[in-house]
This record gives sequence, C-alpha cells and structure tokens, in this order.
Amino acid sequence: MRERISLVDKAHELIGARLRPGALAIDATVGNGHDTLFLLRQVAPGGRVYGFDIQRSALESAEAKVKEPALRACLTLFHDSHAGLLERIPKTDHGAIAAVMFNLGYLPGGDKAVMTQADSTLAALTAASRLLSPGGILTIEAYPGHPGGAQETDQVGRWCEALNPERFKVEGIDAKPNAAAAPRLFAVTRSSA
Ligand SMILES: C[S@@+](CC[C@H](N)C(=O)[O-])C[C@H]1O[C@@H](n2cnc3c(N)ncnc32)[C@H](O)[C@@H]1O
Repeated sequence: MRERISLVDKAHELIGARLRPGALAIDATVGNGHDTLFLLRQVAPGGRVYGFDIQRSALESAEAKVKEPALRACLTLFHDSHAGLLERIPKTDHGAIAAVMFNLGYLPGGDKAVMTQADSTLAALTAASRLLSPGGILTIEAYPGHPGGAQETDQVGRWCEALNPERFKVEGIDAKPNAAAAPRLFAVTRSSA
C-alpha cells in the first residue's frame, strides 16, 4: 500500500528537475512564500520569479523570507490576481516560462475566507499554459477537503482533461489514494516540440 506523500515535495521535485540558473518561473499563489523561495533558489543567479497574490500581507510575509540580496534581485511580486498573468508578464517572456506553480486554497494561518476561486483559477491556468516554454511544467496543488475546494479540484481536473494531448502531458497524483478529500497534485508538461 502506498503511503501518504507530500505533494509539496513532489511538486518541488518535478519542477526542480526542469529549472536551471537563469530560468524564468511563476509562483501564481505566493502565500507565505515557501514555494517562491524554492523557485528563487533554482533560478538564481540570472533568472526571475514572478509572484502573484491578492493579499498584501502574504506578499510581505514572502518578501521577509527572501533574505539573500542575490535572491531578492531575481524576484518580482505583483499584488494582483493570477487571472492577470498575461497582462503582467512582459511580452518578451511569453513562451519562455519554464515553470508555473499554483497552490490553491487559503493562506495557512491567514484569513480562510480569502481563497482561490474556480473561475479565476481556470482563467489563470489557461494563461499559464500559453506562457510555458517548450518542455515547461505547470503544477497545481488542489484541496478538495476545503469549502468549495471539491468543486475547484473537479474543474481543474476537467481543464486538464481538455488539454490537447499532443501538446501537453498530464499527470495526476493523490496525497492519499482512495481518499476523496485528500489533496491532489496535477502536473502538466508542455511537449518539447
Ligand atoms: C495555499 S496558499 C499558497 C501557499 C504558498 N504557495 C506558500 O508556499 O506558502 C494560497 C494563496 O493564494 C492566494 N490567492 C487566492 N486567490 C488568488 C488569486 N486570484 N490570485 C493570486 N493569489 C490568490 C491566497 O491569498 C493565498 O495566499
């Protein structure tokens, strides 16, 4: 029997294999900044991490975590919804983003009423899929156990299924197999052609 796995670790493993110093990445849900810091460590020096969150307090908490000047130099934060990805990311970087991370739901330790919403999540996923470089990866951690989370997870799953299989490979990983409310990771990889 498979044991419960950490989806955060799994997402980092999949993304870490595709990022190099100088690469471009997006943290679509910055939150407390753990993923942002992880991405910065992969792409520095010379790369860039674009981070999005609708809560200023989350961005401040993330910024405080990035203490090294060499990492700070590679960080651009937007106090905005990830639904605005295409408008916020410089046009010269469209099609050159090696990794995009989504960690859905609410900010741990924060206001649980402020959480990702299926409509804007799906709009952002479509935008993110257009920004990816050949061979680039998009990961989505989803939480069906949160209020509204089951519907959002379901919609993300259907969005993944609707992708063109000639352009994108989709892998779904459960934190705990056969538990409907257990977190789920979707990993979408753009083909290298
Ligand atoms: C589960 S937390 C992210 C955890 C984070 N990746 C970390 O490493 O700490 C989800 C975050 O998504 C943010 N969020 C909710 N809706 C959003 C939206 N439309 N655009 C960007 N961020 C959003 C919340 O404010 C919250 O901080």
